[in-house]
Amino acid sequence: MKKYKLGFIGLGKMGYAILKGVVSNKVYNEEDICFFDINVDNTNNIRKEYKIDLLKDEIDVLKNSEKVILAIKPQSFNDFLAKAKSNKYDCVIISIAAGIRIEKIKAALGDLKYIRLMPNTPMMIGYGTVGITKSDNVDDKTYEDVKKMFESISKLVDVSEDEIDIVVSASGSMPAYLYTFAKAFIEEAVNKGLSEEKAKALVCESIIGSCHMITDSNKDIDTLIKDVCSPKGTTLAGLNVLKENDFEEIIKKCFDACYDRSIELGK
Ligand SMILES: NC(=O)c1ccc[n+]([C@@H]2O[C@H](COP(=O)([O-])OP(=O)(O)OC[C@H]3O[C@@H](n4cnc5c(N)ncnc54)[C@H](OP(=O)(O)O)[C@@H]3O)[C@@H](O)[C@H]2O)c1
Repeated sequence: MKKYKLGFIGLGKMGYAILKGVVSNKVYNEEDICFFDINVDNTNNIRKEYKIDLLKDEIDVLKNSEKVILAIKPQSFNDFLAKAKSNKYDCVIISIAAGIRIEKIKAALGDLKYIRLMPNTPMMIGYGTVGITKSDNVDDKTYEDVKKMFESISKLVDVSEDEIDIVVSASGSMPAYLYTFAKAFIEEAVNKGLSEEKAKALVCESIIGSCHMITDSNKDIDTLIKDVCSPKGTTLAGLNVLKENDFEEIIKKCFDACYDRSIELGK
């Protein structure tokens, strides 16, 4: 029997978001979780906040955990896999890395059960979104167990491994794009004289409400846009500026750059 139900290799920004989500939603108790992170500052911060065991290295985590979340940057994978490769393991591997395909990890860690998912940081407050896929040898129970772990803190969407690179743009990195959009609106509202507190409340609640209209109203997005616009009105004045400046094209270029980088990182 393994000592830990869940192990983390790397506990930076995204690993922390998952840890916070699973602990605060009582998916696992702290004593069931272990980790290893090469970054000393990160390690100290985690240990100040959580009573989870720090193990001596990546191999120790792989050997002692039922499920291991690989939450290191794609650029750190080659070193990690080279170090881990000459041992035998029998854990379930959950990789959250952009670009790194299951085949690449399997070539080093062996014929284990592999689950690849693309989360996003709102998971730390229970509002994550996850695209998830698995290797062919993952049985239904294992897959359901892993899904359950993430279900309480995120919405899951089943995807193929080829689609994961699209998920990176569509949801993994989305918070940063949306924060940028919200920041510009908030800053301009403050420039015009609103307090930051009021600006934040108005902009953010409008974004949340508008997203619910997209998912819950049964109207297509073009109709929803029309519903906000009166002829020659205020909304159209703003939308015309977006159109004149190729807003949609810029967003698509942003999507593509993120997608291309995900593919590049996997090479
Ligand atoms: N951040 C997001 O919003 C997001 C969203 C979706 C998916 N992801 C994926 O999540 C993964 C982690 O991203 P992140 O933003 O959380 O990165 P991060 O903040 O840099 O965290 C990674 C941590 O792992 C450490 N590390 C590196 N090599 C290690 C090793 N061999 N063993 C143990 N620890 C090691 C790093 O230390 P050093 O700092 O010293 O290198 C760092 O503390 C990436 O693969 C990324 O593609 C991230």
